[in-house]
Amino acid sequence: MTDFHIHVLPGMDDGSKDAETSLAMLRRSASHGVDTLAATPHFYAEENSVARFLSRRGEAYDRLMEAAGDMPGLPRLLLGAEVLYFSGISAVDGLDGLCLEGTDLLLLEMPFAPWTDRVLREVEVIRRGGLRVAAAHIERYMDIQPRRAMDAFFSLGTFIQCNGAFFLSRRTAGRAARMLRRGQIHFLGSDAHNMTARPPNLGEAVGAMERKLGRTAVERFFAEADFLIEGQGE
Ligand SMILES: [Fe+2]
Repeated sequence: MTDFHIHVLPGMDDGSKDAETSLAMLRRSASHGVDTLAATPHFYAEENSVARFLSRRGEAYDRLMEAAGDMPGLPRLLLGAEVLYFSGISAVDGLDGLCLEGTDLLLLEMPFAPWTDRVLREVEVIRRGGLRVAAAHIERYMDIQPRRAMDAFFSLGTFIQCNGAFFLSRRTAGRAARMLRRGQIHFLGSDAHNMTARPPNLGEAVGAMERKLGRTAVERFFAEADFLIEGQGE
């Protein structure tokens, strides 16, 4: 099982503050049955160039690996980013460098405001440029989007990530299950930032998913997610 969205790299953003916290997050994730983590620190274009971000990310990864030593049973880490949308993003040089390691999947944090035609067009340009776009934590935007914008977004062929919290909240679990059944959710992420307020939670989330959807459907969901990552499939 893959956690597609987690702020586990030490000292990169508002996530894990040090290697010790990162290791605790990795061990907790493993105990939840997670074998692969997409390490997705925030990328904010106004704070970092792509090159500087990648160099900082490499250093954070090295610090973590040094602290991990030969500790057994830790999940595999793939390096990625949670890229905040900005006007002009589709023209950024080296955008593909922010895709999840070994893939052409870009985890995109969409604007927290109603999406205009201009925003949607720019996502389409990224898609046409050959990258697959996965929208981060879809549940955070849905309530503020006009139905038309959501429908237009889905029709762009984007992939959708939701957080474990979408299935864990009694208020939203039914909606999460309906969307997954309709094929509108492709990846699950904990979006964990630490071991206190926002810890890894996919074990609990999977339990909630299985109660709503049944074990077979949930297993199929994770197998398809892994195929989208490993198999580079559409
Ligand atoms: Fe995040």
